[in-house]
Parts: sequence; C-alpha cells; structure tokens
Amino acid sequence: MIRINENYLKLKASYLFSDIARRVAVFQEANADKKLIRLGIGDVTEPLPQAVVDAFHQGVDEMADRATFRGYGPEQGYAFLRDIIAQEDYQARGAQIAADEIFISDGAKCDTGNIQELFAPGVRVAVPDPVYPVYVDTNVMAGRTGENIDGRYQGLVYLEGTKANGFIPDLPKEPVDLIYLCYPNNPTGATITKAQLKAWVDYARKHRALILYDAAYEAFIRDPELPRSIYEIEGAREVAIEFKSMSKTAGFTGTRLAFTVVPKSCMAYDEQGNAHSLHAMWNRRHTTKFNGVSYPVQKAASAVYSPQGKAQTKALVDYYLHNASIIRQEMTALGFDCVGGENSPYVWIDAQRDSWEFFDLLLDKAAVVCTPGAGFGACGQGFIRISAFNNLASVQEAMERLRLVLQ
Ligand code: MLT
Repeated sequence: MIRINENYLKLKASYLFSDIARRVAVFQEANADKKLIRLGIGDVTEPLPQAVVDAFHQGVDEMADRATFRGYGPEQGYAFLRDIIAQEDYQARGAQIAADEIFISDGAKCDTGNIQELFAPGVRVAVPDPVYPVYVDTNVMAGRTGENIDGRYQGLVYLEGTKANGFIPDLPKEPVDLIYLCYPNNPTGATITKAQLKAWVDYARKHRALILYDAAYEAFIRDPELPRSIYEIEGAREVAIEFKSMSKTAGFTGTRLAFTVVPKSCMAYDEQGNAHSLHAMWNRRHTTKFNGVSYPVQKAASAVYSPQGKAQTKALVDYYLHNASIIRQEMTALGFDCVGGENSPYVWIDAQRDSWEFFDLLLDKAAVVCTPGAGFGACGQGFIRISAFNNLASVQEAMERLRLVLQ
C-alpha cells in the first residue's frame, strides 16, 4: 500500500485562485449574458513589448537554423542574460550582486515555493499575514506546520499586517529562522522604506535568520526613495535571498521567466553549527531539478534591458499603474479606505464587511471579480484586493459598475 505525504491533508481544500475560479465559473454558467471583468488574479492582459517580441522571434529563428541551433543551455541561465541583469538591476543601483549569483528560472512562484527545501524540517518560519499563499502552503507540504486551526497553521509565526502598522509587520517577538517578506506587497500593495527594510536586515543579522525577499513587483516602484532590491540595504548580502520576475515587469505571465539571487555570502548552518553556502546548495538543487529556460525566452527577456525594451517596459508598467490610480481614486471617492495602487499594481480596500460577502456582492451585482482578503490570511478578513491588471476600458467600466452598486 503506497502511503501519501499526509502533510497534504493539512492543506486547505484548494489554492485560493482555484477557489475563486470555481465560484466565477458557477456565476458565468448562470449568467451567460453578463460580461465579466476580471480584476482578481494578477494576470497581465497587454501584449509583450515590441523589443521583446522582436528578440523572441530572433531566438526562434536561431533555433530553426543548424548553424545557430542550441540544445540544453546552462541550467542557471545564459551568461548574456545573467550579466545584463547583474549590471542593470543591481550594480547600476549600487547593489553588489555578481552575474553568477543570479539563477534564471521559469517563475518566482516555483522558486519561492522550492527554496524551503534547503532548510531543516524544524526551522521556525515567519510569514506575513496577509500573505501570498505559496509561502505558507509549501511549508505545510514540507511538514513544517501542524494543523490549520481557525485559519492559522500551528507552528508558523504570523507577522501581522494591519491598518495600524500600515501593513509593515513589527519585528518578531519570538525567535524565527526564515522570514518571508514581499515588497511592493502582494496582496496589500504596501511599500517598505529603506529604513524599515534595514530594521529587518539588522534583525536577521543579529539572530542569524534569513530573509526570503519577494520583489516580483519591484518594477512598479516610481518613488525614487523606495528600495528596489533588498541588496540596496547594507548587510543584506549575508542574510537575504531575492526573487524577481518578468511576469508583471514585462508581461511574461504566459511566457515564463524569473530569477532568484543567492549571494555567495549567504550562509546557513548544520547541526554542529558549521556554515554552508546557500549559493552552492541552490546551485545543486537547480542543476539537479531544472534544465533551464528555453533560449528564445531568455533572449526575449534580455531585450527588456535594451534601450527600446526599457522604454517599452516602463510604458507597460505605467499603463497598469494608471489603472491602479483610477481604482484607488474611485474606491476612495466611494468612501473606502485604500492602501497600495501607488508603486504597486494592487489596491487593498477596507470592505467594511466580510471579505467573501463583498466578493460575492461585486460578482453578483457588477460581474466584477476581485480577490477576497480573507483568502490571504486572518488579517485579510474585512478587505478585498483589486488588481490593476486589465485593459484601461475594462477597468473604467468596472469602476462605473461598482459606482452603481456601492454608491
Ligand atoms: C496574484 O494574483 O496574487 C498573482 O497572480 C499570483 C502570482 O503571481 O502567482
């Protein structure tokens, strides 16, 4: 008799976005005539920037020619891409990250989910609340938690984000080893200042903890004072791994390319207290379990850093930021307190009632899909998230419909 990994039985029945998709499907079946506007899952709608498309085509053409055809590439990614990322995303911003500390992959979801494999079953894990569910569920699957009681897994330390602290949790009051942070934040859209982030880096240094920093939404930062990478903070090279993605930056949700930065100075310890390089461990894992992102996709991603690519990518992000500002403005005018929507594609709205009740109201009365805050954790109860990822006309129509329902 083959036994299952019983940790899976602790998981809540489904992944949040699958749950929402099911409810939406039921609504659509009953209301086939209604045009749905999806502002729920953060999935891009606009086409890839032209410079990216051109490079993508070129990559495919190279694969069609015996002289330029490529088989397996380096698992960690081609040097042409790692080099340009190190220069443009890090060194140009004063962060000392080398090209060989960058691991190209097919998604930040996979990487943030897989990274926990490097750590002992017993490490004490701190997650924000509200939280991107992947950080929690992957630790549940790995057996680092007890049962889910009243919406919280036993054994996890929840770092509470509330209106009172501006959704920047206080430092942990109990000892923790692994700390997940995400800024600009999913789901709240909150941003963190350099001084606030420094407090976390200092905490990690003092307590020999490690920060897993999800910067998937970094491209939405327009305020020059906000950190675009944790490595802009002194000392972070010793205590932080950073995850970034082309998904929201350049419209790659369907194209797939992300990267994880593991500095060579990042260490974790064995039972005897000996230090081990996380860079070497992640490299071992990556080369064992991953065979690299396809050449045309890496070629396409490198075009994000060309002069045209930079301008076009910025325009794409600005487009969604404009949508976000409309959502924030409209919801504020309707009397709802909002966070995010500036330097972030997500607007986090105090629903003034149960999250799922508000979700159902918007779906049933306006055919608008949002994400109920409660799906992101106990602290998300009473909030909803509206995503700016849609075309402008749809966002405007959604806001008109919400005005009719909520005014
Ligand atoms: C979200 O809506 O939170 C995102 O689409 C999640 C993701 O990028 O996986």
